[in-house]
Amino acid sequence: MSYFNFYIFTFLLNFIFTFANFVPTARWLQTSVIIDKKLYFSGGQNKNQQFLNDFFYLDVSQNFTITALPWNDLSFTGAPKTSEASACSGNNNDLFIFGGMIQNNSFAVKYDISNKQWANTTTGGNEPSKIKTISCAKFNNGSIAIFDKKSEFWIFDSLELTWSLSNVSNAPEHKLAYCTIIPPDETILCIGGDVDKNDTFKTSDKRIIIFGGVNEDLEVFGDLWILDIETYQWSTGNISNPNNLTLCGHTATLVDNYMIVAFGVYDREFNESSSIYMLDVSQKDSYKWVTEFIPSN
Ligand SMILES: *[C@@H]1O[C@H](CO)[C@@H](O)[C@H](O)[C@H]1NC(C)=O
Ligand SMILES: *[C@@H]1O[C@H](CO)[C@@H](O)[C@H](O)[C@H]1NC(C)=O
Ligand SMILES: *[C@@H]1O[C@H](CO)[C@@H](O)[C@H](O)[C@H]1NC(C)=O
Ligand SMILES: *[C@@H]1O[C@H](CO)[C@@H](O)[C@H](O)[C@H]1NC(C)=O
Ligand SMILES: *[C@@H]1O[C@H](CO)[C@@H](O)[C@H](O)[C@H]1NC(C)=O
Ligand SMILES: *[C@@H]1O[C@H](CO)[C@@H](O)[C@H](O)[C@H]1NC(C)=O
Ligand SMILES: *[C@@H]1O[C@H](CO)[C@@H](O)[C@H](O)[C@H]1NC(C)=O
Ligand SMILES: *[C@@H]1O[C@H](CO)[C@@H](O)[C@H](O)[C@H]1NC(C)=O
Ligand SMILES: *[C@@H]1O[C@H](CO)[C@@H](O)[C@H](O)[C@H]1NC(C)=O
Repeated sequence: MSYFNFYIFTFLLNFIFTFANFVPTARWLQTSVIIDKKLYFSGGQNKNQQFLNDFFYLDVSQNFTITALPWNDLSFTGAPKTSEASACSGNNNDLFIFGGMIQNNSFAVKYDISNKQWANTTTGGNEPSKIKTISCAKFNNGSIAIFDKKSEFWIFDSLELTWSLSNVSNAPEHKLAYCTIIPPDETILCIGGDVDKNDTFKTSDKRIIIFGGVNEDLEVFGDLWILDIETYQWSTGNISNPNNLTLCGHTATLVDNYMIVAFGVYDREFNESSSIYMLDVSQKDSYKWVTEFIPSN
């Protein structure tokens, strides 16, 4: 082999290895949030109930297939251990992780994406108490709404890092699992679920999609439910190529035309998954599992 060929060969080998270097381990109850064509994941717990502090993203700016996922590890930034926390983006593209089962961090931990730096945000003032299974949602002005199990509803100013407790009436009690903010009038919609979060997201055309979940008997579901937020009607989603997937404690994030379903446990023995699935949700009445991701633009 000539030097030239050898150089090309090692270059390619390097390329393949750097690309395939990092593969996240199986987990559930992690957080996920999409910011600027990067799908960030943090924490969760493994089968031995160890809390994880790894932090990584999937690069969704490019085409990829499920067999060669473009992972990028950011664990070196010193992410906090989190589990059953909730992540949202704020102003300046900062990433925030709220709540969760770990008592050691402040309620809100901030990751500055440009400087790759984590910080506790402790204001000293009134802030939410640490309780698990909360949900966060971002307003257009960059403030973040936080909902907790006690039916309290807080607003976090993500620039000033200050909290205010909102005085909403008629909040449903102890049932809050997932809340979202619906444009254009920024109505807040919350969907309950007591045992676990059924993972949910909204599409740009006024659909809320729920996949999977678990009930009191630890039965893990794989059904797809669609809520039309104009008519408030539920319907079951038809998956044209069902794959028998059941999951709970996973995350589901809308990225362009796809619902990216990540990690979670898939059976009543609480076996964890390290897999990523992608459901094409671009058609309102036909959903399809796909293996290739093609960004919208
Ligand atoms: C991504 O995939 C689409 C559809 O197969 C193709 O048209 C496009 O050229 C691809 N983009 C790149 C950068 O490979
Ligand atoms: C929290 O901090 C205490 C004392 O520093 C430590 O013993 C404990 O292991 C920490 N807990 C977690 C979950 O990291
Ligand atoms: C946040 O506070 C906890 C507890 O005091 C500490 O262990 C942790 O290192 C802090 N994290 C950051 C990013 O400063
Ligand atoms: C952003 O909008 C929300 C909802 O209208 C409001 O409660 C909050 O105070 C606003 N935040 C700022 C910083 O203006
Ligand atoms: C909250 O709402 C209740 C009932 O509407 C009202 O009595 C109370 O004064 C309000 N508190 C604040 C701080 O606005
Ligand atoms: C949501 O989870 C609950 C259990 O927490 C389950 O009974 C219900 O069927 C799930 N709903 C959907 C739409 O999957
Ligand atoms: C789904 O499960 C059924 C019954 O267990 C089995 O017959 C079928 O082959 C499975 N389908 C797929 C796509 O795995
Ligand atoms: C699930 O976990 C149980 C108990 O840890 C183990 O015996 C079983 O082999 C696992 N099943 C699968 C499909 O991984
Ligand atoms: C799903 O498919 C069934 C049978 O093919 C059909 O009757 C039903 O209307 C479809 N549901 C939706 C929401 O399109």
